[in-house]
Amino acid sequence: SVIKSSLIDADGGILVNRVVPEAERGLKAVEAGSMPKVRLTKIDLQWVHVISEGWASPLKGFMKEDEYLQSLHFNIMRMKDGSIVNMSLPIVLAIDDKVKEQIGSSPDVALIGPTGGLIGILRSIEIYKHNKEERIARTWGTTAPGLPYVEEVITPAGNWLIGGDLEVLEPIKYNDGLDRYRLSPQQLRREFDRRQADAVFAFQLRNPVHNGHALLMNDTRRRLLEMGYKNPVLLLHPLGGFTKADDVPLNVRMEQHSKVLEDGVLDPETTIVSIFPSPMHYAGPTEVQWHAKARINAGANFYIVGRDPAGMGHPTEKRDLYDPDHGKRVLSMAPGLEKLNILPFRVAAYDMVEKKMAFFDPSRAQDFLFISGTKMRTYARNGENPPDGFMCPGGWEVLVKYYKTLQAE
Ligand code: ADX
Repeated sequence: SVIKSSLIDADGGILVNRVVPEAERGLKAVEAGSMPKVRLTKIDLQWVHVISEGWASPLKGFMKEDEYLQSLHFNIMRMKDGSIVNMSLPIVLAIDDKVKEQIGSSPDVALIGPTGGLIGILRSIEIYKHNKEERIARTWGTTAPGLPYVEEVITPAGNWLIGGDLEVLEPIKYNDGLDRYRLSPQQLRREFDRRQADAVFAFQLRNPVHNGHALLMNDTRRRLLEMGYKNPVLLLHPLGGFTKADDVPLNVRMEQHSKVLEDGVLDPETTIVSIFPSPMHYAGPTEVQWHAKARINAGANFYIVGRDPAGMGHPTEKRDLYDPDHGKRVLSMAPGLEKLNILPFRVAAYDMVEKKMAFFDPSRAQDFLFISGTKMRTYARNGENPPDGFMCPGGWEVLVKYYKTLQAE
């Protein structure tokens, strides 16, 4: 039976799917055999995953130079009819001089995975200069040393970028026991329709869920019901790609998130937990636009944003890299995101009088305790418990176990 979907349209109108139909795989693999080869890193493969499932719709492949310039200079992508969609991060593939030479004037290249298998094809390619300094400065607003994505991905990368239309031979899998949580935008849309959601609100995160996060999500649900929605569904959407070394790894976070649902902090009946395959840039207000845009493609029409989204500490100075309020302000004004309902939230902190996580009240600032990731690690390492009401006990136990294994290493 065909269910008529009432979900928000994909960005730019069509949900991109660049996974070739099974019947065509054999022929395409043979064809790829005679093409010049480009070897992908693990993080390149994460971007292949992102593009192939349509998270970056309407983008159909790695960016060509015009798309790169639009993204870098305007945070948008322009459609043929002149309309725009948001596109705040360059989604690009780097190659070095040697690979560029091997490609020569071939119009297409084969993409080879980090372990040597054929992943797909990039067609009608274009090769252009990778000006790393300019890319870094424009994406992060700084070239300070110590930006995790820069050090891990950009600095070691080649001095050329190769754009083109992507074809992936098979859906990307990681075989890490978590693939069942990696629902594509199309699969998520089906699930929201099956549940007859009349509103979908997305929560992007890369950290364990504490009761402050839960406060944002539960408050959103209450507001949506008040607005007259009958069946709002929460997409709890942890980021699954590259994260910095001191962030909690995905498998631990997934276990922690399960406990949060088991302990009833979030309602399992109205929540879908799934993994967002994108790597993390830590580019603050620039990146939060990408985080929001991608969720439109998965069917979300509401997006929660709180303190310092996609932010981190300055790599060399004792301060946040970005103004913690700018993420939500930028998101509320971002070109191409007008169709998404942004739900900005004040910072939540531990209220030592009420003994629970609450929205920060500056008129009694002294009652509030801010529990950072660093502080959490210190508690766990010293075998101390955070104050009651900071996180559900089941979720906290998962973190203690993880930090203990870290210490043992
Ligand atoms: S992020 O990189 O995914 O943005 P994180 O997992 O820390 O980082 O945050 C997920 C979401 O919760 C973001 O929208 C962020 O702004 C919000 N958030 C995190 N901590 C707080 C807090 N203490 N108060 C309010 N919002 C918060």
